[in-house]
Amino acid sequence: MTARERIAGNVAGYVDDRTGAAKWMKKNLTKVFPDHWSFLLGEICLYSFIILLASGTFLTFWFDPSMKEVVYDGAYEPLKGLEMSAAYASTLDISFEVRGGLLMRQIHHWAALIFMVGIVVHLLRVYFTGAFRKPREFNWIIGVGLLTLGIVEGFLGYSLPDDLLSGTGIRIAEAIIQALPVVGSYLAFFAFGGAFPGDAFIPRIYTVHVLLLPGIFLALITVHLMLVWYQKHTQFPGPGRTEKNVVGYPLMPVYMAKAGGFFFIVFGVTAFLGAVASINPIWLYGPYTPGQISAGSQPDWYMGWLDGLVRMSPPLETHAFGYTISWNILIPGLILPGIMFTLLALYPFIESWATGDKREHHLLDRPRNAPNRTALGAMALTFTIVSLLNGGNDIIATTFDLTINQMMWFSRIGVIVLPPIAFVITKRICLSLQRADRELVLHGRETGRLVRLPHGEFVEVHEPISPEKAWTLTSHEQLAPLELPEFDGAGVRRPGAIKNKIRNRISRANAVAVPKATETERKELEGHH
Ligand code: HEM
Repeated sequence: MTARERIAGNVAGYVDDRTGAAKWMKKNLTKVFPDHWSFLLGEICLYSFIILLASGTFLTFWFDPSMKEVVYDGAYEPLKGLEMSAAYASTLDISFEVRGGLLMRQIHHWAALIFMVGIVVHLLRVYFTGAFRKPREFNWIIGVGLLTLGIVEGFLGYSLPDDLLSGTGIRIAEAIIQALPVVGSYLAFFAFGGAFPGDAFIPRIYTVHVLLLPGIFLALITVHLMLVWYQKHTQFPGPGRTEKNVVGYPLMPVYMAKAGGFFFIVFGVTAFLGAVASINPIWLYGPYTPGQISAGSQPDWYMGWLDGLVRMSPPLETHAFGYTISWNILIPGLILPGIMFTLLALYPFIESWATGDKREHHLLDRPRNAPNRTALGAMALTFTIVSLLNGGNDIIATTFDLTINQMMWFSRIGVIVLPPIAFVITKRICLSLQRADRELVLHGRETGRLVRLPHGEFVEVHEPISPEKAWTLTSHEQLAPLELPEFDGAGVRRPGAIKNKIRNRISRANAVAVPKATETERKELEGHH
């Protein structure tokens, strides 16, 4: 035994005597994780969260969350002598005078953008592969919570510097709070500690941004990962993979090395972007004053869809009992997002209700094999993308020589018409892909090699696919539609008959599929390639 091994052994023995960790470690360090690139998306979220914590902590050393009026006397000449809040002045100082300050600000902002991209793409992976199904519904709901918190946390973050852009965003947030019927104006007064903008808001959101929300994030991410650990990871279908096993690499050493390396890749990309790509150059916008607004104000992308919905809404207002209800803000700013996030959170339950499938699922779906779900996802994405485009209506209009009205009408009509079209097209594509799978299994791969038969006919040679591939393409099950009876055995209409009818209909639409190739069909066609 070398000296190094002896020391490592002694340390391990010392810790084990006191914690009994060896047994636990032995069991868990060999835990198997499946290997697929899309399982790295959750890790991107995790690593950017760590980068956010580290770079954010650096920023707190110099940022002054105060609305105290100061006269700027720093290094940035164009703003010298201007009155501004201490919050804005300290952000300028971080950018121009603190060593590495601008790099850290940019790393922090880029990490936030990557974090949100990571969350959304990770959510899409979980959605389109059906990873949210039993027993992972809770983790899905925790995920929706993390997404919501991420949007709020990002918004609060870019609201802190008190520059003209962030003030404009806060003004919209105030309008949304005020749009709440009856309590809105009181709530806004409460949140801002008086009339807008006031002195209280920035210090308040600072506490929420650096203390409260990161704390909740840490707790939720911990529970999220513990659940992944406990419930085990899902895996894509393939030979040897069942609902009862996990095929992949052990945590130690393979997965640890991969994950560690991946952290540095994420960190490297973020640091590179922070170093070379300017983000939120607040010195160009100037300090916030409620009477001004900069041209081309854009929120960060994850808020853009909400801004786009508000921008496209028609000027609807009702006056009743001395109150004004601003539907133009209330619907796009609160009601629609409320419905969207509720539907998102409840989706696993809605799907299992519609299909009647209450079983556990550890094998993932290929998106084409769940055409309705995939099409619904495409529909929701289309809705969000049209809204997001309208969030940049002014920039798009000036860039492409359009009028703001053309953009607005495109989005107003598009947001209603395009999602159903996306649904139909996606469903057709999924069914076509199923048909292509069936062809592939039954007739093999087209080789592009033409052969002339003795009697003169030309045929293309097909090459049979491997049994492993054939298994992967046919192992999924195709659910039969629910047939909930309308009448009971005695011919009496059952309670909930209408509900059952709706459920039957949805489940029938859900069960539309191209029959997968069966073993018998395969056998029959063998030798016909
Ligand atoms: C702070 C944000 C988040 C972090 C750090 C995070 C992290 C992770 C990690 C590391 C995994 C395992 C690897 C993988 O499957 O990618 C995972 C799995 C999972 N996540 Fe997230 N996630 C976040 C947000 C979300 C969101 C927004 C949703 C959905 C609404 C979600 C739902 C799930 C589910 C259902 C699983 C289990 C997937 C499976 O076993 O296949 N997560 N998450």
